[in-house]
Amino acid sequence: MKTIFITGASTGLGRATALLFAKNGWKVIATMRTPEKETELAGEANITLLALDVTNKEQIAEAAAKALEMGDVDVVFNNAGYGLVGPLEGISDEQLVRQLNTNLLGV
Ligand SMILES: NC(=O)c1ccc[n+]([C@@H]2O[C@H](COP(=O)([O-])OP(=O)(O)OC[C@H]3O[C@@H](n4cnc5c(N)ncnc54)[C@H](OP(=O)(O)O)[C@@H]3O)[C@@H](O)[C@H]2O)c1
Repeated sequence: MKTIFITGASTGLGRATALLFAKNGWKVIATMRTPEKETELAGEANITLLALDVTNKEQIAEAAAKALEMGDVDVVFNNAGYGLVGPLEGISDEQLVRQLNTNLLGV
């Protein structure tokens, strides 16, 4: 059985990918910031939920270690991220750094 590790699996493309791969017989490690709120994915036999905020270095190490304890990972879907829309002058340094940390450095 192949394994896919997904970040940002609480909504959107990440969530849909988790359900699709589970349905197709893959072992799915679905990670998200608040797994305690997730009910549908938690009930799927092939899906394991792990807590992961991709801007949190300690949690990245913890989630990676837990995933590898379950076996090899064949695919990593680096999906967690978000768009930041508006004029550059209106974006604060804090917003910019948070987005780069999430969308680029998290992986
Ligand atoms: N849909 C598009 O047209 C489009 C176009 C270009 C790029 N993308 C990119 O494709 C990805 C998926 O898009 P989508 O439309 O499915 O977006 P979405 O529904 O907003 O889902 C984004 C996911 O990323 C998670 N996330 C955000 N910050 C995070 C963090 N620090 N740590 C862990 N998870 C985090 C969110 O989790 P929470 O629920 O905890 O907030 C959410 O599950 C995103 O990276 C998006 O920027 C999408």
